[in-house]
Amino acid sequence: MEKDELVKKHIGYIKMMVDKGGPEKQEYSEFSDFLYEIQMLKANGIFLEKELTEIRKAFKDTLSKETIQGFIYLKPHGYSGDFEIIDKIYLSDISDNPKYRNWDIYAHTLDATIAVRNRKKYFKNIFGEKINKTTSLSILNIASGPSRDIYEFYAENPNKSITIDCVELDKNAIEYSKNLLNGHKVNFINENIFRFATTKMYDVVWSAGLFDYFSDSVFIKILQRLISWTKLGGEIIVGNFSTNSKAQPYMEFIEWKLNYRTQEHLMELALKAGARKNQIQINQEPLGVNLFLHIKKV
Ligand SMILES: C[S@@+](CC[C@H](N)C(=O)[O-])C[C@H]1O[C@@H](n2cnc3c(N)ncnc32)[C@H](O)[C@@H]1O
Repeated sequence: MEKDELVKKHIGYIKMMVDKGGPEKQEYSEFSDFLYEIQMLKANGIFLEKELTEIRKAFKDTLSKETIQGFIYLKPHGYSGDFEIIDKIYLSDISDNPKYRNWDIYAHTLDATIAVRNRKKYFKNIFGEKINKTTSLSILNIASGPSRDIYEFYAENPNKSITIDCVELDKNAIEYSKNLLNGHKVNFINENIFRFATTKMYDVVWSAGLFDYFSDSVFIKILQRLISWTKLGGEIIVGNFSTNSKAQPYMEFIEWKLNYRTQEHLMELALKAGARKNQIQINQEPLGVNLFLHIKKV
């Protein structure tokens, strides 16, 4: 098929989908085939930005910030994975508007969004287990975003005492977190992790939803700093999306770009950051889409 015909075909498909109110369950596999085909056409250099823009236009206001996919694509806070979209994903936020509803439901069925919700559970499980074994726990949380994980941890463990310092670049994320946490004791440091320095040492240094944006060399450099802020006997935990995610074509189409990594790749980066093999463990949430690199400081 000629390029123009391909563009027309895909525009026609999306227009039809938009007119009928977005994909329904029985159409998910057809819609993911569409996304996969777009990804292939782009990878093979057949579709360039111009063609993708034309196809995105066919989504009309279902690619506005009223929908999950539009919010991701338009990045109203100026960057991908901001506190607001992460919290919408945590809360499985679905528009009341029938025009947008099915698009949001679709977005929340993807393995990527389920994995984000699972990582919140992972956070609560890890810190729940750790606090049960000790009387106090000091945590450094790098790139804390909306703090929904901390909020729920406190709600579910009302009598436990933890000290959390959160390093977060976005002032609005901090304000949002403070409102959500409503008086819970959390110390926010409005700083870029590239400039952040501390002499304090922590039992656990945690970071999820940040290292996926780093190149390998930046990953190693920042991981070395995390290791240096961890007490002997403590632990560093870093989340990273896995190459297993089947949502990659969708994420690419709405321009949420991540560095997906395998377990072996994370192991290699941890070794390069100076950890020894027997200190490293790589875990995952139930879908195997969000991986967690654990390094024990010995
Ligand atoms: C995808 S969110 C993850 C939030 C949280 N960790 C979670 O899992 O719910 C990424 C957060 O990283 C923050 N961030 C991005 N670059 C940063 C940097 N260089 N230093 C500190 N925070 C950063 C963003 O502002 C955003 O709130």
